[in-house]
Amino acid sequence: MEFKEVVKRRYSCRKFSDEKIPEEKLTAVLEASRAAPTAKNLQEQHIYVLRSKEALAAVDQVTPCRFGAPVVLLTAFDKTNVYTYPGGKHSSGIEDATIVATHMILAATDEGLDTCWVNRFDPEALAEKLGIPENEELLALFAIGYGAPDAAPSAYHASRKPLSETVSYL
Ligand SMILES: Cc1cc2nc3c(=O)[nH]c(=O)nc-3n(C[C@H](O)[C@H](O)[C@H](O)COP(=O)(O)O)c2cc1C
Repeated sequence: MEFKEVVKRRYSCRKFSDEKIPEEKLTAVLEASRAAPTAKNLQEQHIYVLRSKEALAAVDQVTPCRFGAPVVLLTAFDKTNVYTYPGGKHSSGIEDATIVATHMILAATDEGLDTCWVNRFDPEALAEKLGIPENEELLALFAIGYGAPDAAPSAYHASRKPLSETVSYL
C-alpha cells in the first residue's frame, strides 16, 4: 500500500470481528517495531502479544476498550534502560515506545488490519495480572484485528484542524 493510503486508511477501530490474524501479518507488524528509531538505539521496548484466553480476560478486567479484538499488543519499555538527557529532567522511554507503537499501527494498516490505540486502562492492575517485571513501564494497549463488517470511523476521524492552526513557518 502507498504510504499516503496507509495514513488515510488508518482509523481507530472500535468493533472487531473474531477473524484470526494470520501469523505472517502479525510478524510483519512486529518486524516494523524493530525498524523504529530509539534514543541512542537503546531499543528498550517490550511488546507483549496478548492473545491467550487468560491474557485477553485480564485486558477486559482493566479496560472497556478491547472492542472484541482477537489480539492486543501491550507496549512497554524498560524504564531502567532509557536515555536521560543532559540536565536529567527528561528521558526517552515514552517517546521511544510511542514511535515503536506508531510503526506497528501503520504496518498493521498496511497489512489490511485495523487497530485502536487504548490508553484507557489501569496500568498497575494489568501489570500485576500479567506479571510484568517492575523495571517495565506500560505505555499503551493496541487492539488489533480485522474490523467488523459494520465497523466505521467515529466522527472524530474526519475532524482535523487545518494546518494553519497547527503549523507555524518562522
Ligand atoms: C494516545 C492516545 C490514546 C487513546 N486512547 C484511546 C482509548 O483509550 N480508547 C479509545 O477508544 N480510543 C483511544 N484513542 C483513539 C482516539 O480517540 C482517536 O485516535 C481520535 O479520536 C482520532 O480518531 P481516529 O484515530 O479514528 O482518526 C487514543 C488515541 C491516542 C493517540
